[in-house]
Amino acid sequence: MAELRDATARDLPAILAITNDAIATSEAIWATSPRTLEERRAWMETRQDAGHPVVVAVEDGTVLGFASYGPFRAYEGYALTVEHSVYVASSAQRRGIGRLLLDEMIARAEKAGMHVLIGAITASNVASIALHRNAGFSESSPLPHMGRKFGRWLDLVFMYRLFDTQSGEGSSDERHSSF
Ligand SMILES: CC(C)(COP(=O)(O)OP(=O)(O)OC[C@H]1O[C@@H](n2cnc3c(N)ncnc32)[C@H](O)[C@@H]1OP(=O)(O)O)[C@@H](O)C(=O)NCCC(=O)NCCS
Repeated sequence: MAELRDATARDLPAILAITNDAIATSEAIWATSPRTLEERRAWMETRQDAGHPVVVAVEDGTVLGFASYGPFRAYEGYALTVEHSVYVASSAQRRGIGRLLLDEMIARAEKAGMHVLIGAITASNVASIALHRNAGFSESSPLPHMGRKFGRWLDLVFMYRLFDTQSGEGSSDERHSSF
């Protein structure tokens, strides 16, 4: 069974390989050119320096997946909203690792006092949408034609979980009403 731990620099080659496989073969990530080790290193350091998690799922010493969250948008008003991503190596999918990683993001975001955990998910990504629905996420209507990959338009769905944070203003109902 895979175990979770915080990522270190030694995990970067595996994180890079999983990322680049998703870029090359799927519409999950709307990048078309492969990332580099240096880009992944900078990404991880930025996340960790800001106190945000980068977590890997490891089995028998092999990294099978990773998850992270970071700022949703830069303005101060979004300070309690974080956007997450979850990636599992294609050879290790459908074994519960995605759910393990997503549950860890939920737990970390709630513990860190975040109010919203949100994922931007390609509408055709059946696996990710089912994963998030099963983990109790709500979803927006699909936003049409938000991007292109593999010669076709892609629609985008936001899936989100709200936490009962005390640092917002007004009652819980008032705070949730903007959704
Ligand atoms: C989406 C992803 C993270 C799911 O990870 P996973 O380890 O395969 O998922 P799990 O085995 O934990 O599955 C958890 C639940 O998600 C749903 N699910 C996962 N894969 C599915 C699929 N291919 N089709 C339908 N539902 C699926 C199921 O409800 C599943 O529960 P079940 O197995 O009890 O039915 C993985 O497919 C992946 O990395 N895909 C490429 C990158 C990606 O899309 N990342 C998300 C970007 S927003």
